Amino acid sequence: MNTPTPAAPVSALKATSETVTSVHYWTEQLLSFRSTRPAGYRFTPGQFARLGVVAGGETLWRAYSLASAADDAELEYYLVQVPGGQFTEQIKNLKPGDPILVEKFSFGFMTADRFVDGEDLWMLATGTGLGPFISILQDPAVWKKFRNLILVHCVRNADELAYRDLLSSLQQRPQLAAGGARLQLIQTVTRDNQDAAQDHLQGRITTLLASGELEAAAGRPITVEAARIMICGNPQMISETREILHQRGLRPCRRALPGQFVTEDYW
Ligand SMILES: Cc1cc2nc3c(=O)[nH]c(=O)nc-3n(C[C@H](O)[C@H](O)[C@H](O)COP(=O)(O)OP(=O)(O)OC[C@H]3O[C@@H](n4cnc5c(N)ncnc54)[C@H](O)[C@@H]3O)c2cc1C
Ligand SMILES: NC(=O)c1ccc[n+]([C@@H]2O[C@H](COP(=O)([O-])OP(=O)(O)OC[C@H]3O[C@@H](n4cnc5c(N)ncnc54)[C@H](OP(=O)(O)O)[C@@H]3O)[C@@H](O)[C@H]2O)c1
Repeated sequence: MNTPTPAAPVSALKATSETVTSVHYWTEQLLSFRSTRPAGYRFTPGQFARLGVVAGGETLWRAYSLASAADDAELEYYLVQVPGGQFTEQIKNLKPGDPILVEKFSFGFMTADRFVDGEDLWMLATGTGLGPFISILQDPAVWKKFRNLILVHCVRNADELAYRDLLSSLQQRPQLAAGGARLQLIQTVTRDNQDAAQDHLQGRITTLLASGELEAAAGRPITVEAARIMICGNPQMISETREILHQRGLRPCRRALPGQFVTEDYW
C-alpha cells in the first residue's frame, strides 16, 4: 500500500477486513492477488466483490470480479493498474500481509444460471474482463450444462494474455472433464505486430465477429438456438458487440424472458 493510514472505522455489518495472501504481476500493470475469504462468504462464478482501501482517512470502494473458484479457500482478483486511477494507485505496492476490505455480499448477474438452454457458452472478454471467466470455467456445473465452452480473450499486446497455463490445464481436471464439455481458448491481440509464429488471432472481438473469423476459429456458428454469450470488459466493446448480436436475432436475458446474452461493463 502507498500510505499506511490508520484504518477508518468501517461498519462491521457492511464489510470485513481481510488479508492479502499473495500478489502476482503478469506485466508491470496487470496483477492478480489473493486474499483470505470472509467467513461464510458466498458467490456464484461470474459475480463481483466490492473491495475497499483506506486512503487519507476515507474508504474507497471499487467492484472487482471474483476470479477464484467458488469453493476456493481464498478469493482471487485480476486487475489492471489504471494510470492515475484513485483506487488502483492505492494498491500499487500491494503485498502479502496488507489489509483489504471485502463487502460481505457478492453482486452481479453475469452468471451461467441466467441461461435456461443452449449448447455453446461463448465468453467474450477484453483485458481484465477475463477474470470472471476464470472462475466460471472452474465450475463443474458449467462443464455439464454446455457442450462447448469457447473463451475469447482480446488484449492490446500478447504479454497481456494472462492465465494461459491455468486455462490450458482445466480440461485435465477430472471433476471438470467429467461434465463432457470441450474448452476452446481463442486469444486475439490488437496492437502487436503480426508475428509468423503467433498462436493467437489479430484484431478486435467486434471485427472478428463481424467478419465471421471468430466463428471460423471456433468451428461453431453463433445461432439463436445454440449460442449463449457472456460479454465482459470494455463498455464500448460490449455495446458494439450487442449491436452485432441484435442484428443476428440474439437478445439479452431479461428477468422474465430467457435470452441469449448477458453482459458486465467495467466502467
Ligand atoms: C461490475 C464491475 C466489475 C469490475 N471488475 C474488475 C476487475 O475484475 N478487474 C479490474 O481491473 N477492474 C474491474 N472493474 C473496474 C474497477 O472497479 C475500477 O473501476 C478500476 O480498477 C479503476 O479504478 P480506479 O479508481 O483506479 O480508477 P478510476 O479513477 O475510477 O478510473 C476509471 C477509468 O479507468 C479505466 N478503467 C477502469 N477499469 C478498467 C479496466 N478493468 N481495464 C481497463 N481500463 C479500465 C476507464 O477508462 C475508466 O474510466 C470492475 C468494474 C465493475 C463495475
Ligand atoms: N491512453 C488511452 O487512451 C487509454 C484508453 C483506454 C484505457 N487506457 C488505460 O490503459 C490500460 C489498459 O487497458 P486495457 O488494454 O486493459 O483495456 P482496453 O483499453 O479496454 O483494451 C483491451 C482490448 O479491448 C479492445 N477494445 C477497446 N475498445 C474496443 C471496442 N470498442 N470494440 C472492441 N474491442 C475494443 C482493445 O483494442 P484496441 O487495442 O484496438 O483498442 C484491446 O485489445 C488501463 O489502465 C486503461 O485505463 C488508456
